[in-house]
Amino acid sequence: MLRTHTCGELRKTDVGKEVTLAGWVHRIRDHGGIIFLDLRDRFGITQVVVSSENEKAYEVAASVRPEYVVQVKGVVRERPEGLTNPRLATGDIEVHALTFVVLSPSELPPFEIEGRKEVDESLRLRYRYLDLRRSRMQENLMLRHKAAQSIRRFLTERGFVEVETPFLTKSTPEGARDFLVPSRLNPGSFYALPQSPQLFKQLLMVAGFDRYFQIVRCFRDEDLRADRQPEFTQVDIEMSFVDREDVLRLVEELMQHVFAEVLEVTLEIPFPRLTYEEALKKYGTDKPDLRFSLTIDDLTPLFLEEGGGVLPLGEKGRVVFRGLFVPQDHSLSRKKLDLFAAEARERHLALSWVRKAQEDFSSPLKGKVPETLFQRLVARYPFGEGSVLLVSWGEEEVLQEFLGNLRVQLGREMPEKERFAFVWVVDFPLLEWSEEERRWVSVHHPFTAPFDEDIPLLDEHPERVRAKAYDLVLNGYEVGGGSIRIHRRDLQEKIFSRLSLTEREIREKFGFFVEALQFGCPPHGGIALGFDRLVMLLCGEDSIREVIAFPKTQKGVCLLTGAPSPVEKEQLDILGIALKKEKR
Ligand code: AMO
Repeated sequence: MLRTHTCGELRKTDVGKEVTLAGWVHRIRDHGGIIFLDLRDRFGITQVVVSSENEKAYEVAASVRPEYVVQVKGVVRERPEGLTNPRLATGDIEVHALTFVVLSPSELPPFEIEGRKEVDESLRLRYRYLDLRRSRMQENLMLRHKAAQSIRRFLTERGFVEVETPFLTKSTPEGARDFLVPSRLNPGSFYALPQSPQLFKQLLMVAGFDRYFQIVRCFRDEDLRADRQPEFTQVDIEMSFVDREDVLRLVEELMQHVFAEVLEVTLEIPFPRLTYEEALKKYGTDKPDLRFSLTIDDLTPLFLEEGGGVLPLGEKGRVVFRGLFVPQDHSLSRKKLDLFAAEARERHLALSWVRKAQEDFSSPLKGKVPETLFQRLVARYPFGEGSVLLVSWGEEEVLQEFLGNLRVQLGREMPEKERFAFVWVVDFPLLEWSEEERRWVSVHHPFTAPFDEDIPLLDEHPERVRAKAYDLVLNGYEVGGGSIRIHRRDLQEKIFSRLSLTEREIREKFGFFVEALQFGCPPHGGIALGFDRLVMLLCGEDSIREVIAFPKTQKGVCLLTGAPSPVEKEQLDILGIALKKEKR
């Protein structure tokens, strides 16, 4: 045995015992004749004392530096009065060394392991194994593990079966590009890494598994951001004989369970719900951050009724007016308002304001819009001293996005935010027109069921067909998405053709799946939760890279291993691949 205890284990009750510890040298203080040394492992830190009376041990201890791996045999002693450390679980004791052995020396690390000092991220990723020694990453990965266990336990208790699905597979469309893997045994053919296990989990419903889950890696070749990685983890769930309410309730209870177990936070359920249309109108986005209550208000009817004065109303409906009321606890300076107006102009929008100060309303709109309109505007909101109404107008989509971002920016500056604000966004449109592809495309994926009553609209008004889809949003992040699925072959084929897939394309891409729908497919639905995003929010981080052991950069590069990298020509030859141009 290289150790009898971990570095987080010893307490007062162990005083007098002879123990062996092993770990990394965290910190060393040489007091001349006596060396104090903090020994660290994943479980904690224990103070080791090496006295020069023990000549051999002292000599070795005096030669070590931080991050050396050492083994210490010694006796547990109570720390002298006044020298205990209440911040350490082992702070009442210390180990007086009898023998001291270096198991493995260490170079000087490129950054300090101790402390929470910011270190350049590319350096952290280059030496990720050292970065992972730091307490922040240790805590994050531990929490990630706890969350995964908590999810597994909950779903297993609810009768879900964990089934693994293939990584070497056919394209599973989720709106991104595929990562392809060439097949040596079938030259010229490629596997695609799954963007999600969507089709397999549906096939598992056909197979009668009834309730499936998997904590599974997914692969998407898309532009990367702080909340997107090319490979990421989903908590993938599918259930048979359910409707939307069943899935939403299950996920709410799952979240309640996980937040209680992992953070001891009590979530109130059911979560609030917004339709897609409401979300866009009131919050300017389909992933609203509901930690703050600011909402965007449609002022268009008011302007149409009263007339805009010198403001252009445009043809009916072309110019829309929106208000964003900022209560008094947000001190919004004149300089900031001018900045917002300039940002609006850059987007071909206009922005003005009404502010209450010293019992009076000041506004550039005064005198420009009819007095009755102005009076109705100020009567509409609970103006207090210092509160400001932002009024902005222009083209609807651009305006929505602009105000949505402004809302978040202002909200995040406001005091007293709720810690976790979940919301369901429901009733998404099934299809949207893609200018680029000149065809209708799925808003979620092609296996999402339309509202039964909207099916007749598929031919004439595809844009009006609503989907039985739902997104779970937490603090402004999309942390999950799912739907009730199409379980009948005729409807699935109709949707494929609405997406302008030819018969041949349907057969080649999804033939196996459409075939399965003929063999008794139960009504079913499910969801996938973005596990990395969820853990990121549980950890209070703002990038998923902080909760993934070995993540990639924004450019999809692993700075530790150097992947992706060129391969030898022979390897390409075996695969029957010739590169067009050497890319350096
Ligand atoms: P969707 O595409 O919405 O649904 O993905 C589910 C959730 O996965 C997370 N996510 C990501 N996380 C990190 N990096 C990425 N590149 C990334 N892409 C997605 C998001 C998202 O909400 N098959 C469907 C689910 C279903 O219908 O059951 C699907 O994959 O949090």
